[in-house]
Amino acid sequence: MFTNIFILFLVALAKGQSAADAFSTAEPLLLPSETDSFLGATQCPSVNPKLNYRPVIGILTHPGDGASGRIQNSTDASYIAASYVKFVEAAGARVIPLIYNEPSEILSDKLNLVDGVIFTGGSAKSGLYFEVAESIFKIILRKNEAGDTFPLLAICLGFELVTMMVSEHTQFSPLQQDKDVLEKFNARNQASTLQFAKNSDINGTVFQRFPPCLLKRLSTECLVVQNHMVYVSTVQASKYPVTAVQWHPEKNAFEWGLSMTPHSEAAIQVTQHVANFFVGQARKSMNRPPAQKVLENLIYNHSPTYSGKAGRGFDEVYIFT
Ligand SMILES: *[C@@H]1O[C@H](CO)[C@@H](O)[C@H](O)[C@H]1NC(C)=O
Ligand SMILES: *[C@@H]1O[C@H](CO)[C@@H](O)[C@H](O)[C@H]1NC(C)=O
Repeated sequence: MFTNIFILFLVALAKGQSAADAFSTAEPLLLPSETDSFLGATQCPSVNPKLNYRPVIGILTHPGDGASGRIQNSTDASYIAASYVKFVEAAGARVIPLIYNEPSEILSDKLNLVDGVIFTGGSAKSGLYFEVAESIFKIILRKNEAGDTFPLLAICLGFELVTMMVSEHTQFSPLQQDKDVLEKFNARNQASTLQFAKNSDINGTVFQRFPPCLLKRLSTECLVVQNHMVYVSTVQASKYPVTAVQWHPEKNAFEWGLSMTPHSEAAIQVTQHVANFFVGQARKSMNRPPAQKVLENLIYNHSPTYSGKAGRGFDEVYIFT
């Protein structure tokens, strides 16, 4: 299924055992004057001119209002759950919404303002939404082939879309031409562990910078939330900075509606490490768009709506009509 470009290196099991092992060894806190580097403390490390310290991430909107018509019934409405925006912000980047049903010229202009893309969770797998996601996926591959670093993080539905695109197209994968590769599996609102496949090499993957103790806990404690009907896992392209997770890294820290979402300190660290990994890739982008154009398109030109009062679904959503 992931021939050539994609390697499957991890499977998630709906198994929740708890681990008793201690989390970290405490190190004493030192005052600045007690550290070796005190004399040089006024010298801040020089910035790396090759890195982009003002990365911007495009997030593709999903059809609907995120609350099944409770907030906005307009047929052309689309939304981004604010948790994805906060996830990006928490790692030091800003967001430009890629509104799936806006004119394609506007979408391609916006893709030139961003340094990476997120495909969110949701349910739409066909029609204009799928076509737009696929055209963005092709642009992402092309930007990377042209020598830039332009990462994609595909979450839940995004994982499924990327799986379908890769399986469908000979240009992505010479062996398969069938996008019906998904099988149903009920994993709605479940906390789960992540199990690493035997001999999986996490170097260069989203898990590389997880501290060993957190990695261990990931496989024994339920630190990620699964909320989908198709049960797969985590994949990374071998040739592109494309990472897809079937679970929801953004929910641990920023969503409160699903009862099973873990909110422990370790679970929040999982959110933060995934965000750091992805935004870290985006900092390698060589894109330097005009600052004013970025400001004009940032998501801060829109306001989120509190939709969590019903006690289910998303807490806040940005709705675009
Ligand atoms: C959307 O439509 C439903 C069904 O007709 C209705 O109950 C609901 O109030 C509508 N919501 C809004 C925000 O107009
Ligand atoms: C990780 O991958 C990088 C780049 O492919 C390589 O230079 C490095 O040696 C690898 N590190 C380990 C621990 O395998």
